[in-house]
Amino acid sequence: MSDAAEPAVLPPHHLLNAFPNINVCAPMVRYSKLPFRALVARYDTHITTTPMILATEFSRNAKARDSDFTTNGDERYIYNLADNAGNMHTVRGALVCQLASSEASPLADAAELLQPYVDGIDLNCGCPQPWAYAEQLGSYLLRQPETVADMVRTIKARMADGFCVSVKIRIDEDLRRTDTLVRNALHAGASMLTIHGRTRTQPSQSYPVNLDGVKFAVESANACGLHTPIGTSPSWSIGEDGGSGGIVPTVVNGDIWTREDAIQHRTATGARGAMSARGLLANPALFAGHATTPQDAVATFVDYAAKWGLHPALFQYVYC
Ligand SMILES: Cc1cc2nc3c(=O)[nH]c(=O)nc-3n(C[C@H](O)[C@H](O)[C@H](O)COP(=O)(O)O)c2cc1C
Repeated sequence: MSDAAEPAVLPPHHLLNAFPNINVCAPMVRYSKLPFRALVARYDTHITTTPMILATEFSRNAKARDSDFTTNGDERYIYNLADNAGNMHTVRGALVCQLASSEASPLADAAELLQPYVDGIDLNCGCPQPWAYAEQLGSYLLRQPETVADMVRTIKARMADGFCVSVKIRIDEDLRRTDTLVRNALHAGASMLTIHGRTRTQPSQSYPVNLDGVKFAVESANACGLHTPIGTSPSWSIGEDGGSGGIVPTVVNGDIWTREDAIQHRTATGARGAMSARGLLANPALFAGHATTPQDAVATFVDYAAKWGLHPALFQYVYC
């Protein structure tokens, strides 16, 4: 990290395009709240994601807004990163808010409310819980490519030019369905994709990540021949195309417990970024190369949780 230069502020898809080793904190209901996001950001987690927020409640209810989303000026961190050509840049990290919905309109309403406070909106197409499936959101959307396209299009139409709208999917046991979903999302204007390498019926505890499935989805995305539109920043000079020659920004997710796992998963799948959930809960400093949670991280988390608030039960879960 450096204080020397004013950091470039880039949307998440542009970060992924411009830099080869972007690390991402997964959305985690209850856990990826402000103190945890700020903590992992201090340890080379360049993009962080809020827990899944239900768009309908968020857009209609001020109390839901207050309890579901908080941020502050300190949570994003500043990094010195080498771009694809090896040149160093000072860059600010990015915050993404994940929303869940079965309909496009409340999703766009919630996204519009959130836009001033976040760098991207992510659509949850992976939550496997029975209540979510019954409500026709989360993993239900994996087989509803046209609904997903409609949602992406509707949000994009309400956001500023170049605003990042991403989709987080699981793979399907029938990979042709994954291909259709990916193509629909991208043609509708999705800026980036995160691919969790498990199907809707495969719990993380029982099934290893399927990197071949993720690679398939990455290749589907790249085969679209689309390069997602990228907003320009006056302080940014790497280039309009983000420097990656038209590759769609993708993120691999599943079973990343160490920095080496992140590197291997990127290499095995061709994804630009690497996302961790349970790995970061076990060791918030994993992307910075720490083998176990450093003492400093515990002290920092205690400080953030005390200053910015965290339910005591969650505090105990994360660090006891
Ligand atoms: C406690 C917990 C909460 C989660 N909440 C969400 C969520 O809100 N939205 C989402 O898309 N995935 C959620 N997930 C799934 C993770 O984002 C991730 O896709 C999954 O855990 C696989 O990554 P991993 O192998 O690194 O844990 C959650 C996972 C955990 C462990």
